Amino acid sequence: MTTPSRGAAAGHVPRQRPDTAAGDVPQARGNTAAGDVPQARREVGAGPELAFADWLGLREAADAAARAVDLVAPVRRHLAGVDRVVVHDLGAGTGSMGRWLAPRLPGPQHWVLYDRDADLLVRARAGMVDRAGDGTPVTVETRLRDITRLTAADLADATLVTASALLDMLTGEELHRVVAACADAGCPALFTISVIGRVRFSPADPLDGEIAEAFNDHQRRTVDGRTPLGPDAVEVCVAAFERRGVPVTVWPSPWRLGANQADLVAEWFAGWLAAACEQRPELVGRVRAYAARRRAQLAAGQLDVVVEHRDILAGYTGYGITGGG
Ligand SMILES: C[S@@+](CC[C@H](N)C(=O)[O-])C[C@H]1O[C@@H](n2cnc3c(N)ncnc32)[C@H](O)[C@@H]1O
Repeated sequence: MTTPSRGAAAGHVPRQRPDTAAGDVPQARGNTAAGDVPQARREVGAGPELAFADWLGLREAADAAARAVDLVAPVRRHLAGVDRVVVHDLGAGTGSMGRWLAPRLPGPQHWVLYDRDADLLVRARAGMVDRAGDGTPVTVETRLRDITRLTAADLADATLVTASALLDMLTGEELHRVVAACADAGCPALFTISVIGRVRFSPADPLDGEIAEAFNDHQRRTVDGRTPLGPDAVEVCVAAFERRGVPVTVWPSPWRLGANQADLVAEWFAGWLAAACEQRPELVGRVRAYAARRRAQLAAGQLDVVVEHRDILAGYTGYGITGGG
């Protein structure tokens, strides 16, 4: 659960550069049309977008703090007897999921990092940790692929499939294919940090709800013939696994942001507002005043934001977890 959308995924902000798409791998810019948001950002008083890799770097600590460690415990127990753990990470970006999860699992481990962006994969490989939680080696390879075209055969050697801040970028059809590949491979999946379209500010403001609604509609809008699931991705994913008889546990993984993450709040907020105004241009006038109020609160250390996400664990049973979402 996470863009305003650059890659939204993550329902959060910055966009990927069109030129980072690889060969015939379809480009996914999340739900933000190229060229539109920068103007919308200007309208809400925001500066230029960060480069996509910088955006991923900015949010990495918040994602790490938010992911549901409760869902790692059953995975760790399950992997305890495995000789060599093989994790396939879908939409790896700069590799934040591997840096977070590998030290929490037993080894030895081999990570297969997928993305359609070759530059990000170079960074992911370079930034991967080299030791598992028990001190055994972690090895890594990268695959420049469209993850929505993976099959069970691609995942045949996986002991676990992971993703983070990815699902909201996918269409229903694409997500069903990903779920089918995992289920047909008989492989458990840990999909973290998926936005669900809910944001809470403290203090609250009468305009919060209207902007959130416009933002959510922006996430689901059709661009270049694709209609991403946006905040509906978790529900669709859970239903798709359950239809295939795969048990699913859902756990909250909210970003809890305040004065000590002011840079992240400011960047996230700029993308959130810009997307909302792009979706409903009639909001622009009111949003300008709202943005000024919110930025003053942030500068004074008087603004807290909770961005709701969900983590999904599919394929494990009998660990006494009964949902959390
Ligand atoms: C928001 S980023 C998250 C990256 C990383 N998982 C993280 O948590 O920092 C989403 C990533 O998914 C990749 N991605 C989106 N759709 C994809 C597709 N169809 N095939 C391959 N990669 C894709 C993007 O290139 C991007 O790096």
